[in-house]
Amino acid sequence: MPTDRAATTALPTALRRIVGDAHVLTDPATTESYRTDWTGRWRSPESTVVVRPADTAQTAAVVAACADARVPVTPQGGNTGLVGGAQPSVSGPSVILSTRRMAGIGAVDTADRCIPVGAGAVLADVRAAARKAGLTVGVDLAARDSATIGGMVATNAGGVHVIRYGSMRAQVLGIEAVTAAGHVFRRWRPLRKDNVGYDLPGLLAGSEGTLAVITAVLVRLVVPARRTAVAVVGVNHVADAQRVVAAVEASGAPVHAAELMTATGLGLVGRAGARNPLRRDVPYAVLVECAGTPDLLAEVLDEQDRVLDAAVEPGPAHRLWAVRERHTEVIAEVSQTPVVKLDVTVPSAAMSDLVAGVERLAADLPDSPRPATPVLFGHVGDGNLHVNIVDVPRGRQDEIVDAVLRLVDALGGSISAEHGVGRAKRAWIELGRDAVDLAMMRAVKGALDPDGLFNPGAVLA
Ligand code: FAD
Ligand code: MLT
Ligand code: ZN
Repeated sequence: MPTDRAATTALPTALRRIVGDAHVLTDPATTESYRTDWTGRWRSPESTVVVRPADTAQTAAVVAACADARVPVTPQGGNTGLVGGAQPSVSGPSVILSTRRMAGIGAVDTADRCIPVGAGAVLADVRAAARKAGLTVGVDLAARDSATIGGMVATNAGGVHVIRYGSMRAQVLGIEAVTAAGHVFRRWRPLRKDNVGYDLPGLLAGSEGTLAVITAVLVRLVVPARRTAVAVVGVNHVADAQRVVAAVEASGAPVHAAELMTATGLGLVGRAGARNPLRRDVPYAVLVECAGTPDLLAEVLDEQDRVLDAAVEPGPAHRLWAVRERHTEVIAEVSQTPVVKLDVTVPSAAMSDLVAGVERLAADLPDSPRPATPVLFGHVGDGNLHVNIVDVPRGRQDEIVDAVLRLVDALGGSISAEHGVGRAKRAWIELGRDAVDLAMMRAVKGALDPDGLFNPGAVLA
């Protein structure tokens, strides 16, 4: 979208009239935390203005003012995204629309099992509200204390329970959003079945701030299992980890999570204080959570000859989960260069080839400043691996990203499993979608946001 400098100098004044002086931030020191992403790899220009509307009406007015001034708008929630999606990179004036003030949480509807929340409500708070009514949100992830429901819908976040409840799109019963034309789109009925025309809420899920600003969500709730058991199981091979998960599933105990870790990752989090619960060193470990008792889970594991060692506890088993959940922050701390951080899926049969292929690619890199080391982990039950490579020499980062994403494509996988495309993977989108598919996506973008107001530079070029 072309920008008009004369109009944009007046924009902060117009925005202040809508949201009040305290909620239009222009000082670069104050806007720093909004302009920098969680990984520190993506930064927006100092000229970026942050505006924090209190509700949907203010959001609509902010969007209209930005459209009038021809200034692009990037929605931002908790800023925990891992693909640079919430960091505008345009050279001209630009606005980050923070949803964090829209954090209201309504009453749980126990009959239709749902909860109305503002887009800026943080996952942990929504989970806590649901818990008081004996229910829970089907999606959970380690960034739960900061990630917002709006951001999670916008990225179609996955997390640890997709294997049981599906991703964020499946938790959306209703949605309210501001369109590029400044209108309020609202589908808001707690219905499990509603086939009147196109699934527009489903389209906004995963749209990464490029089609509309989500202002509120009617979140589906689920009944949690009465009892869960969690095991960390040591195995020799990735395929053995998959067999263990399949065996638990085949026993009739619904699997709630299946998370792969490697010896390298276990070592790193162990040194950071999350002690490996296994009594011996193992090449791979899989954390399995299922409905049922620890005795039942231990019984299934005892029957598996590929199990090297196992630690089993009743849920919630925070000590076992900490070993898995600490991976992201520990990896970010240890690398001397920006972490190469990818999130991919492959068909189950290709998981071992993916792991071996990534290890080969990393071994081919020069040992400078230190040997590049893959730290692979993730939602193995969904075929979703988080490919992190630490200490990749700065000049070789795009090359290794390219090689890993091409490997994933060759294995029949997806270059983005759950984090989205954002800015980080935009250059590789042709690996994930063919020409007809991309043309349809561009047609949708053109129809809903003809002037390219929302989040230019993210997802589609
Ligand atoms: P932001 O980072 O603020 O924004 C993300 C994207 O959504 C941007 O493109 C932004 O423009 C858009 N957006 C935000 N809010 C809105 C809105 N209201 N309307 C329209 N667009 C909007 N992700 C997973 O999927 N699974 C995981 O297991 C997981 N674990 C994580 C663990 C850690 C420690 C961290 C740091 C991140 C993890 N993530 C995970 C990534 C991240 O938490 C998710 O992508 C989350 O959904 C982002 O929510 P947010 O509110 O922080 O969004
Ligand atoms: C996770 O599953 O912990 C995340 O998606 C975060 C990451 O990839 O680091
Ligand atoms: Zn993940």
